[in-house]
Amino acid sequence: MPSVKVDLADHSYQVEITAHSLSAPKETSAFLSSKQFAIISNQLVADLYLEDLLKSLPSDSEVITILVPDTEQSKSFEQFIRLHTKLLEARFSRSSSIIALGGGVVGDLAGFVAATLHRGCNFIQVPTTLLAQVDSSVGGKTAINHATGKNLIGSFYQPNIVIIDPSTLSTLDDRQYAAGMAEVIKYGFIEDEHFLAWLDKNKEHIRNKDDRTLELMIARCCSIKAAVVSADEKEKGIRVLLNLGHTFAHAIENISGYGIWLHGEAVAVGMLLAAKLSVEHQWMKAEHYFKLEQLIKYFNLPLKLTAKINVDEVIDAMYLDKKNLNKDLQLVLPIKPGLSEVKSWTDENYLHKLITGFIPEK
Ligand code: NAD
Ligand code: GLY
Repeated sequence: MPSVKVDLADHSYQVEITAHSLSAPKETSAFLSSKQFAIISNQLVADLYLEDLLKSLPSDSEVITILVPDTEQSKSFEQFIRLHTKLLEARFSRSSSIIALGGGVVGDLAGFVAATLHRGCNFIQVPTTLLAQVDSSVGGKTAINHATGKNLIGSFYQPNIVIIDPSTLSTLDDRQYAAGMAEVIKYGFIEDEHFLAWLDKNKEHIRNKDDRTLELMIARCCSIKAAVVSADEKEKGIRVLLNLGHTFAHAIENISGYGIWLHGEAVAVGMLLAAKLSVEHQWMKAEHYFKLEQLIKYFNLPLKLTAKINVDEVIDAMYLDKKNLNKDLQLVLPIKPGLSEVKSWTDENYLHKLITGFIPEK
């Protein structure tokens, strides 16, 4: 059973990755000897997995379940306050545990509630989407949205443990699964050439959601993320590399209205845009671009933008990126598989030409 440590001095934790493990009773240490648990989830995920999760909790514990609507809009101040009210009414204390059962929406919201209830209570991530299993459940970013933008109110708050059961992905729809694969491909490109080759070799098993292959794939992603987060928990330096393709992606999501593009779909095109820029400036060989494009295509992720996208709006939205330094864009650019760099970018005319090249002709 693969297990990855996120090494963070006084708040290190394990990420346990085992297929069909959701209902298996855990060692007491996994549940921190808590006697009170709140499972935060949504109806769709609860119908599929709540019963299994309940089986794994200590039999003498008090458990409440709180469901939130299945939408990005749940990362809101209203849901945040509603959850706090329910937990305080149930007399939750700092030693009680909040369990996030679901995708990144549930994880980000429940994590921010856990970070703020009595200034921080126990927090367990049980991610059930591929994106959440390889990215959002590990690393401690928690947040809700504000009317002016996504994830603007939040904190770094690490979970006590992350429990991943890759077999939960069997019920995830193809589009969401593919979106998670964009983040998987990203890890190969930023950190690990061998992993990128492994993905290519195992792509059929991955597409067929073979349990053992998924355990290995998710464990490799989590260990790459764990190493980056251990070195730079609060994103003052190398953690920014996890944002390959994301400056383009956030802008595309932002101007299209959230939900039109799934995050991973926008990341796929964003990585291609970043890679094309690198090739056209002789920082990366064209053969690496084609390798990236092949993988993205194999997993049915988009290779192009849509005709509706307005290039000026994309560029304006890129200037809202949190990573920007003064007025300059900071782009994470691939150099070769396993190596990416952050570069300041000022040439807007070039960006215009680059993005236009990704819009299909009418
Ligand atoms: P999501 O949480 O909206 O889940 C996608 C859909 O899949 C939902 O309808 C959900 O109910 C459903 N679902 C979940 N598990 C399922 C399963 N096993 N079977 C069937 N259906 C299932 O989307 P997501 O992509 O997981 O997360 C997106 C969110 O994550 C965004 O809010 C984004 O900002 C955030 N995020 C956070 C981080 C971070 O580091 N904290 C990183 C990336 C993204
Ligand atoms: N999803 C990018 C990060 O956690 O830093």
